[in-house]
Amino acid sequence: MSPVVSHTLTWEEGEVPVSERFADTFYSRSDGRAEAAHVFLGGNELPSRLSQNSNFMIAELGFGTGLNFLETWRGWSDVRRPGQMLRFVSFEAFPIDADDMQRALLRWPELTFLSSRLVDRWRQDGKQDGSACGWLMDQQTELCVHFGDAGQQLPSWAGRADAWFLDGFAPSRNADMWSPGLMAEVFSHTLPGGSFATYTAAGWVRRNLIAAGFAVEKRPGFAGKREMMRGVRPGQ
Ligand SMILES: C[S@@+](CC[C@H](N)C(=O)[O-])C[C@H]1O[C@@H](n2cnc3c(N)ncnc32)[C@H](O)[C@@H]1O
Repeated sequence: MSPVVSHTLTWEEGEVPVSERFADTFYSRSDGRAEAAHVFLGGNELPSRLSQNSNFMIAELGFGTGLNFLETWRGWSDVRRPGQMLRFVSFEAFPIDADDMQRALLRWPELTFLSSRLVDRWRQDGKQDGSACGWLMDQQTELCVHFGDAGQQLPSWAGRADAWFLDGFAPSRNADMWSPGLMAEVFSHTLPGGSFATYTAAGWVRRNLIAAGFAVEKRPGFAGKREMMRGVRPGQ
C-alpha cells in the first residue's frame, strides 16, 4: 500500500487551485464546472447513458477537488429513476485537505448542497491509507476513493467501468498518469462498449490509448483548446 502524501496548493486569482508539486491547475481557469460538463460528461455521452442501465460505474484517474464527481452527481440526480445506482470510483495519490476542497468548490453555488456533503465526508474519512469505499452520498450514489499511486492501485482493482474520466494533470507535467502501462490498465478495467474522455489530445497519449485497444476520436476541446479525446472499448 502506498503512503498518502499531502498536496500543497497555491491559489490563482479567481480562487483557482494550483498544485505546487505538478505546477498545474486542478481545473480550467475559465470554468472548471463547465469543463467537467463538456469534457468528461459530454465526452462519455453522460448523463444520457447513465439512465440506460440499472447500475452504472464511472472511474476516474485523479479525484482532486471532487468537482468532476459533483457535476456528475448533479447531472445524475436529474435523470435517474428509482432503483438505479451510480458508483463513482476514483484513484488519488495526493489528496487535498478538506479546507482546500471547500475553498476550491465555493465558486459554484449550484453545487453547494452536494459539495457540503462531500467536504464533510472528506473531513472525516479522506486521506486514508488504502481505499475508502462504500460512501453512500445518497441512496443511489456511491463514492469510492482508492488512495495511493494509480499505477499501483489500479491493477488490483476488481471493477470494470462503463466510463472513465482521465484527469491526471497535463501529460507534459505528469507523464506517469498517461503511461502505456496505465492506459493498458484503464482499458482492461473498461467494459466492452465502455468509454473514456480526457481534455488532452497529446499525440503520445493518443498512441498509448490506441495501443491499449481503444478506438479513439478527437472532438472540439473546452475553452480555446482545439481538441480533446474520447474513445470506446470495442464490443458490446
Ligand atoms: C487535474 S487534478 C484532478 C482534478 C479532479 N478530477 C477534480 O475534479 O478536481 C489531477 C489529480 O491527479 C492526482 N494524481 C497525480 N498523480 C497521481 C498518481 N500517480 N496516482 C494517483 N493520483 C495522482 C493529483 O493529486 C490530482 O489530484
